[in-house]
This record gives sequence, C-alpha cells and structure tokens, in this order.
Amino acid sequence: MNLRHTYTLWAPIYDLAVAAATRGARRRSLERLGDARDQHILLCGVGTGLDLPHLPHDARYQAIDLTPAMLARARRRATKLPLTIDFHVGDAMNLPFPERHFDVVILHLILAVVPEPQRALTEAHRVLRPGGRMLILDKFLRRGERAWIRRAINPLSSRLATRTDVVFEPLVERHPDLHLTEDCAAMAGGWFRHIVLEKRSP
Ligand SMILES: C[S@@+](CC[C@H](N)C(=O)[O-])C[C@H]1O[C@@H](n2cnc3c(N)ncnc32)[C@H](O)[C@@H]1O
Repeated sequence: MNLRHTYTLWAPIYDLAVAAATRGARRRSLERLGDARDQHILLCGVGTGLDLPHLPHDARYQAIDLTPAMLARARRRATKLPLTIDFHVGDAMNLPFPERHFDVVILHLILAVVPEPQRALTEAHRVLRPGGRMLILDKFLRRGERAWIRRAINPLSSRLATRTDVVFEPLVERHPDLHLTEDCAAMAGGWFRHIVLEKRSP
C-alpha cells in the first residue's frame, strides 16, 4: 500500500486525530506570514486544509496534495473561507510549478512524510523566489540523536502515515543559499519544530 492509499483511509478521521493537537503550533507557524498582501504562497501537502483557517486572506494560494480524498476536504473547508486558493493533485517531490514562482512555501507535516524528504526540499527550493521563505512545521531527529524507538518504528510508520527517522540538518546543507532564520520547539518536547528558511539572493 502506498501513501496515497493510506491517506485515503486516513482522510475521514484525520481531523479528529490531528486538528486539536496541532492547532496552536499551526497558528504560531502561520503568524510568521505577517502582512501577506499580494504574496503568492504554496501549501505543499495541504492535506484536509487544517492550516486554512489560520491564513491571511489577502494572499494568493496554490495548494497541492498527493491524495484526492484529503484534497477534497481541503476544498470543502476553503469554500467557507474568504481565501483565493487553487487546488492541485500532485507530488511534493515533483512540483508542477516553474522556478522562482512563490514568495512563501509552507511545509507543514510533509517533509517527514514523503519517502524522499531531500527531493521535496529541493523542489520547494526550486519554486521559491530569492528572498522568499519556507515555513516548516514537522518532526525531526537531531543529528546523532539515538531515539531508538522512533528509528525502530520507522519501517512501519513510514508506510502508514509518516517517517519518524528524518534528520533535518543534512537536508538543508545541500542548499547553501538557504539560511536558517528560526529553529525552535513547536510540540512534543521539541520533536516537532518550527523552522524558517530564507532563500538568499545569489
Ligand atoms: C500528515 S498529512 C499533513 C497534511 C497537512 N499539511 C497538515 O498539516 O495537516 C500528510 C499529507 O501529505 C500528503 N502526501 C503524502 N505524500 C505526498 C507527496 N509525495 N506529495 C504531496 N503530498 C503528499 C498526504 O496525502 C497527506 O495529505
């Protein structure tokens, strides 16, 4: 079973399982958008759209997700909000957008979900304009962290919902023009982190 199948099964109960636990962390992450007037923003792996109620209304959004059943819920949620969003079924590891297209890329609970986080970060980097930012909320191990339970359950958890063995730092080191401007604990004792990356001009 691939992730599209598992998230099709998750879709009807995803909000019940995840919404309350993540609401505060989402709000805090998205507060970083500040005045987003006329900004072009990508929601990568938008899921059921739990981020949507926290988004400023005056930006333009594109939202992508691999799983039509998740995306259908996000579309329904969007109809109740004054947001301009185009939804796409697609792959975060092969984004259907040109280079330097977005001012901000939001990566909430997606980098540690996809099978190849490096490819997903490289794609986010490609579509981000110089001067733009990535807002990341996800669970990462620290370099050298033993976390043997999280590493041990990864073969199963990565098939069912999410990887639990992703170390963030090596992903970003491949992109010298990505500068870490924030990295702080979001939830679960710092396992989930708020990370902000800025793409500097060459
Ligand atoms: C844990 S959910 C997070 C959803 C949402 N970002 C949130 O914060 O609630 C992971 C989402 O990633 C989607 N997904 C998994 N693999 C993907 C891929 N390769 N490209 C795009 N989306 C993917 C799943 O369908 C699911 O909606």
